[in-house]
Amino acid sequence: MRIHIICAARPNFMKVAPLYHALKNETWAQPVIVHTGQHYDLNLSDAIFKDLGLPKPDIHLGVGSGTHAEQTGQVMIAYEKVLMEEQPDMVIVVGDVNSTVACTLAASKISYPVNNGQRTTDNRHGRRPLIAHLEAGLRSFDRTMPEEINRLVTDVIADILWTPSQDAVENLISEGIASDKIHFVGNIMIDSLEMLRDKIEKRAVYKEFDLKPKSFGLVTLHRPSNVDNPDILKNLCNILVRISNKIPLVFPVHPRTMKNLEQHNLWPILNNSPNLLLPEPLSYIRFMNMLFNCRLAITDSGGIQEETTYLGIPCLTLRPNTERPITITQGTNQLCDVNNLMEKFHDILSTPVNLHEPIKYWDGKTAIRIVALLKALNPEPFFEIDIIRFHVIN
Ligand code: UD1
Repeated sequence: MRIHIICAARPNFMKVAPLYHALKNETWAQPVIVHTGQHYDLNLSDAIFKDLGLPKPDIHLGVGSGTHAEQTGQVMIAYEKVLMEEQPDMVIVVGDVNSTVACTLAASKISYPVNNGQRTTDNRHGRRPLIAHLEAGLRSFDRTMPEEINRLVTDVIADILWTPSQDAVENLISEGIASDKIHFVGNIMIDSLEMLRDKIEKRAVYKEFDLKPKSFGLVTLHRPSNVDNPDILKNLCNILVRISNKIPLVFPVHPRTMKNLEQHNLWPILNNSPNLLLPEPLSYIRFMNMLFNCRLAITDSGGIQEETTYLGIPCLTLRPNTERPITITQGTNQLCDVNNLMEKFHDILSTPVNLHEPIKYWDGKTAIRIVALLKALNPEPFFEIDIIRFHVIN
């Protein structure tokens, strides 16, 4: 079974790595890594690939940055060509970035050449790959977020939906998606964390910043809603400076954020504050070592809300909503805004962490569960002609 695993941007790499490694051990599976090139910086891509033990991508689409339509369209055009050449049996997309929806759209409309070599544009007479979405069903119910649109479209089209939590299953059911497409497999990000726990724990990256464990906060900000508007960004800079006067903050700056800080002349506000440490984005192991050892995280990332919940570290999420509500109801996450960030920060410093029971299937075994499901896969309900190919392969 030739399986394309699509990855594009930083948060995707931690999701594809455990699955790639698990599939690589299976004789029936031929996993192929397709990198769309949405993230291309060394720090956002190559360094993280290396940490996760991923090989160089088998296929690189080299798409890069652009507006939403440009990026999505260019990935679709580039990936359609690859699909026709490679004819994978399955395409696995992860998360909610523009490349996730782009590859899903391209794969869902492709029609491989039929036996006589003639290409047909009608899927009823041709074949297309099965499409599986890993991290399906998450919803912020905020359609101003580009990722929410990507999640909705991907989940409507994909044939197989692997969810990280029970609330995600319920979201999909309430949108009318057939229950036999949905499988609650667990949180794949925790697989990466557990896979690399020894290497993460052996490091002491905080020493490079002259810090001691649990004596600093870790900050990440890159959402357009926080960093694209100069007034909002300025307010955030000012409050981070105030917090850093209480506890040192390490803030690895994302390229989108850096671009905006420089463009609006806000960089000096941060850079002139002695307790704000501003490295470039860190590789996975280095960042996770900082996360393991921080007192709290301040973020607008999705993955960090989950990782802090798993590790029992307080997290303040600078967003009005989250597609990961389980991190609030069963974790350490709180939503906040510039107006209440300071107050919530003080609460955290003065209150012990409220620890919850571990969340079901956030256990480092999600990739194993997915491989078991794939082994048992019966493609019959999807495309008749796939059955022939599937039997030949097996
Ligand atoms: C993307 C995802 C977001 C994810 C985030 C993680 C979408 C809609 N957004 O947002 O869900 O949380 O990745 O980082 O898919 N840039 C570089 N180097 C790079 C990549 C980007 O300098 O390697 C700069 C470019 O100027 C680009 C900007 O950062 O215009 C934003 O990058 P983009 O990929 O458009 O979105 P992110 O903000 O990274």
